[in-house]
Amino acid sequence: MRKEFLPFSRPTIGQEEINEVVDSLKSGWITTGPKVQKFENDFSRFVKSPYAISVNSATSGLHLAYLASGIKPGDEVITTPLTFISTISMLLALGAKPILVDIDLKTLNIDSEKIEKKISKKTKAIVPVHFAGLPCDLDKIHSLAKKFRLKVIEDAAHAVGSKFKGKMIGSLSDCTVFSFHPIKNMTTGEGGMITTSHKDWAEAMTLLRFHGMSKTAWKRYSKSGSPHYDIQNLGYKYNMMDIQASLGIHQLKKLSQFNKTRGAYAKKYHQAFSAFPEIILPQQPSYPHTHSWHLYVILLNTKKINLTRDEFIQKLSEQNIGAGIHFKAVHLHTFYKKFFSRQIKELPNADFASRHILSLPLYPEMKEEDLEDVIAAVSNTIKKYSKKAAI
Ligand SMILES: Cc1ncc(COP(=O)(O)O)c(C=O)c1O
Repeated sequence: MRKEFLPFSRPTIGQEEINEVVDSLKSGWITTGPKVQKFENDFSRFVKSPYAISVNSATSGLHLAYLASGIKPGDEVITTPLTFISTISMLLALGAKPILVDIDLKTLNIDSEKIEKKISKKTKAIVPVHFAGLPCDLDKIHSLAKKFRLKVIEDAAHAVGSKFKGKMIGSLSDCTVFSFHPIKNMTTGEGGMITTSHKDWAEAMTLLRFHGMSKTAWKRYSKSGSPHYDIQNLGYKYNMMDIQASLGIHQLKKLSQFNKTRGAYAKKYHQAFSAFPEIILPQQPSYPHTHSWHLYVILLNTKKINLTRDEFIQKLSEQNIGAGIHFKAVHLHTFYKKFFSRQIKELPNADFASRHILSLPLYPEMKEEDLEDVIAAVSNTIKKYSKKAAI
C-alpha cells in the first residue's frame, strides 16, 4: 500500500507561472491590467470566440451571463440537476425558476431528448453543463433553442479544451462560462472566463463585472487615461487580477498537454476496470467530440458489490487514495429541496447517480506509479467486496 495519501486533485504550477506572478508583484500593478488583457486575448484566440471576458470565478461568470441574456424574475431556465450549485444558485439570485431535466445515466449529461417536454411559454434559456468535460448534445440543444427562440448558455466549468464535432467549446452558443478553480484543467487560483459572439453581451458583462463603471481601473490610472469615471449600471466586483492572469497565461499554453495526459490516464483506468461488473465506467456518445477529462467518474453497481458508495470511498481512503463526489444533485441539498419538491419524482437518474458516483484522482501532476496505486486500490476493493466473492 502507498505510504502517502494521494489527493483527489492537485494543480500543476510550473516555474513560468511563478516567475510571471513575481513579475506582477514587482511591477506595481497587481489587479486588473495588461496581463488580464493578454490572457483574455489569448483565450479568445484559443476558443475561437470574438469576445472573452475574465472574471473572478465561474460562479460570477454565470451570474453575468444570465444577466446579459436578459433572464428576469419568473423566467424559466432548463438545466441539469447533476451540477455544482452555482449553475442553479445564480438563477435563483435573479429570481428565475430553474427547471431540472433528468440526466442520461450513460453520459451523466442532461438527457437532451427530455428537454422539449419541459419547454413552456416562460422558458428563456437552456444551460447545458458539460459534465466532467464531455460535451452535451449541442446539435439537439441548438435546434430546440432555434425552434423555441431560447438562449443557450453553456456551463463549461469542466470543459476547457473540449470540442463538439471538431469545434471548440466556447465558440458555439450565445455564451459559455469556464472555471479556473484549482481542481479544474487549468487554474488561475480562483477565476473564470466568459466567451460570447455577441458584442452587446460582451459590453454589458464588461460593465457589470466592475461596478457598472464606464472605465476599468487600468485605463483610469494609466498615463493616457482620465481619472474620471461614471457608474452606468448596478454592477458587481467580479474582475480578475493580473496576479491570477499571470497563472492563466502560462496554464493556457500548457493546457493541451495537460488534457492529453488526463486523456491517457482515463484510457488506462478504462482498460484496467472494464472487466469489473461491480462498477459502471464513463461512456461516450456517438457524435464526434473531444473530452477534456476533467473528472473520471464511476458509478458503483451496488447490486454486485457489498459496499455503499461512501463505504467504497472509505476503503480507498484507508489505502491512501482520495476520491471526490461530483455531484450530489442540486435538488437533494437541504436548502434547495424546497425549490424542487414538484420536480423531484422526475429525476430518477440524477438521484441514482447522486448515491452511486465517485470521482477517482485524475490530473497531470499524478505519476504513472500514482495511477497504478489507484488502479490497485480500486481493483483490490472490488475483488474483496464483490458479491461474487461472497458466493
Ligand atoms: C459545473 C460547474 N459549474 C460552475 C462551477 C463554479 O466554478 P467556480 O468555482 O469557478 O465559481 C463549478 C465548480 O466546481 C462547476 O463544477
